Amino acid sequence: MNIAIIGTGNIGSALARLLAGIKGNNVVVAGKSATDGAELAARLHADSGVNLESGSISRAVEQSDVVILAVPYGAIAGIARSVNFDGKILVDLSNPVKEDFSGITVGFSTSAAEEIQALLPGARVVKAFNTVFAQVYEQGLDFDGSAVPAFVASDSDAARSTVMELAARAGFDPVDAGPLSNARYLEPLGYLNIQFGYMLGHGTQIAPAWIRRKAA
Ligand SMILES: NC(=O)c1ccc[n+]([C@@H]2O[C@H](COP(=O)([O-])OP(=O)(O)OC[C@H]3O[C@@H](n4cnc5c(N)ncnc54)[C@H](OP(=O)(O)O)[C@@H]3O)[C@@H](O)[C@H]2O)c1
Repeated sequence: MNIAIIGTGNIGSALARLLAGIKGNNVVVAGKSATDGAELAARLHADSGVNLESGSISRAVEQSDVVILAVPYGAIAGIARSVNFDGKILVDLSNPVKEDFSGITVGFSTSAAEEIQALLPGARVVKAFNTVFAQVYEQGLDFDGSAVPAFVASDSDAARSTVMELAARAGFDPVDAGPLSNARYLEPLGYLNIQFGYMLGHGTQIAPAWIRRKAA
């Protein structure tokens, strides 16, 4: 799979390391400045031995089937204006949190993901990975025998399946979260995770999961 990761911060670098380590993935990273991607690729190669490409945002998007936006929600409209995402599967993992972390800026009759889809009608937007802290990737996706869930929502069945497969191959438990409008509930769930992790004392080695009764 050809994957572009836009954003070289906490989540961009964690996903780049994880996805580039999987056979069959070609990962290209791009950041705000021309050198951000190259610096990240060199660092991950030195630290973890993974091979990534780097380039400008438009070049990275052009050569990929799946594009992961690992930037703050507020940066996405600017990127959307300057890059052609037509035909791409576009993964939005943002939690549109207020600057002071007192809540979220979008909802509840829409979501960040739906706003991005409206900006980029030629792309197939998929909400995923917003409930997983960057620190979780550092210690791995296995929590004592249970894989970390990746809730995946999209209006495109094919795009949702592709991202669920990408997530499964990376070690997540992919969960079909239905249409993109369910991002209205996944984004508050991401915020609740932040509340638990940072305000309520649980720390960042946590992730939301649904439990199922085996014999009903
Ligand atoms: N951190 C988490 O645990 C976590 C968990 C789930 C979801 N998320 C979501 O993941 C996204 C990224 O969070 P993060 O923690 O990785 O933040 P971060 O460490 O601050 O990284 C954000 C990256 O985006 C870059 N960026 C900003 N504007 C850009 C633009 N216009 N073009 C290209 N790159 C741009 C930043 O570059 P500069 O540093 O040069 O500004 C930085 O490399 C956010 O939407 C967040 O809600 C985060």
